[in-house]
Amino acid sequence: MTAPVRGLRPAASIGRKRDGHELTREELAAFVGGYLDGSVSEGQMGAMLMAGVLRGFSEAEAFALTEILAQSGEQLDLSGLAGPTVDKHSTGGVADGTTLLVAPLLACCGATVVKLSGRGLGHTGGTLDKLEAIPGMNVALDHAEMLRVAGEVGCVVAGQTERLVPADRALYALRDVTGTVESPALIASSVMSKKLAAGAGTIVLDVKAGDGAFMAGEDEAGALAELCVSIGERAGRRCSALVTAMDEPLGHAVGGALEVAEVVELLSAPPSGRLAEVALALATEALVSARSMSPSEAHEALVGCWTSGDALDRLGHMIEEQGGDARVCADPRAVLPAAPVAREVPAPAGGAVTSAPARAIGEVAADLGSGRAHKGDRVDPAVGVEMRVEVGDVVAAGAAIAVVHARDEEAAERAASRLAHLVTLGEEAPVRRCPVRRHVRSGRAGNGPPSR
Ligand code: URA
Repeated sequence: MTAPVRGLRPAASIGRKRDGHELTREELAAFVGGYLDGSVSEGQMGAMLMAGVLRGFSEAEAFALTEILAQSGEQLDLSGLAGPTVDKHSTGGVADGTTLLVAPLLACCGATVVKLSGRGLGHTGGTLDKLEAIPGMNVALDHAEMLRVAGEVGCVVAGQTERLVPADRALYALRDVTGTVESPALIASSVMSKKLAAGAGTIVLDVKAGDGAFMAGEDEAGALAELCVSIGERAGRRCSALVTAMDEPLGHAVGGALEVAEVVELLSAPPSGRLAEVALALATEALVSARSMSPSEAHEALVGCWTSGDALDRLGHMIEEQGGDARVCADPRAVLPAAPVAREVPAPAGGAVTSAPARAIGEVAADLGSGRAHKGDRVDPAVGVEMRVEVGDVVAAGAAIAVVHARDEEAAERAASRLAHLVTLGEEAPVRRCPVRRHVRSGRAGNGPPSR
């Protein structure tokens, strides 16, 4: 952490931000350092954050803040690992198992992936919760163990340790209770500080847009993606981002064990569907940046590793090295916990699916027990929702639109009746759109899916 500025007057800095001035790196470092050592009070930090949310932070302030947060704790040194090192980050969504596809795929294509993941909160799922559905799986690895697994397998997915970016943890907890999460600069510096501290040379970001995402609008999500990419590049990393749709669940399964099973089943056959499409697009971006491959070469190599079964084997190897039962990759339903009640949700009428809102479907699954309302709540790995339809599908009256996996009949009934109202049916099927909406590379933004 940069040494505090002597004679910092917190109230004066807050006033400068309130009046729309740009703060210097030294002032920001002193403020954050002061908050950690107690010389800046919670009230003063809250006031500074709110002034910043209302007045905005410049790109220079966002970059300075990112580095200050990244340097507040230990930083991972990946220099001893073979191949280009890659990290991937999603801003959070529903039925988004992309990490469990991208990490082994990239490992098969010569990159080393050290992925520090998070837990689900509210309607969103977290990769750590999904992995913990696998019996024995350990995601609480120390830095030496992460490096060992990454070196052995080519990929590791674990939780962030307490020693990484402590300033972000402290600030995020305050932002959460002061209505100051929704600032592009604060979100970008929070996300990118963790990516910088995690040490990878190439960073690929999946910025979600839609009702189930932090940023509902594609333009807002695009601006966040551009800010993150520019911060990554200023810090000397190769960085690119995709803006992807989160207006309906990305995959079909929502809930720990169900999502692991979906990933294994997907990797057991040639790639198909929206989840596979986004995972391949992210992994393509990573290989284009990390290995200077063309998008078509990268895509072809990735599809090859997928269809040959190598990516599934690599996922099994990673699970085994992290203490999990790797038989999950051969027969997921036999190994993963199952809920006692499985109830089909029949379509109330025939028609075309016009919407399947991600946030509300995520909330149904969370209320069944797959999510948490508060940090620290325990999740039930066995429960959740399996969608049988997606937007654009045509269903007959009475056909299953979803299956609810619940602890008891009452919970299943409640969830089933919510889902029957949430999925809307119409006469005409809407045009299916590619879930990859934009790609942002080296300060250049483009519309549409990445070229292959
Ligand atoms: N995710 C983060 O890590 N930080 C934010 O501020 C928002 C989402």
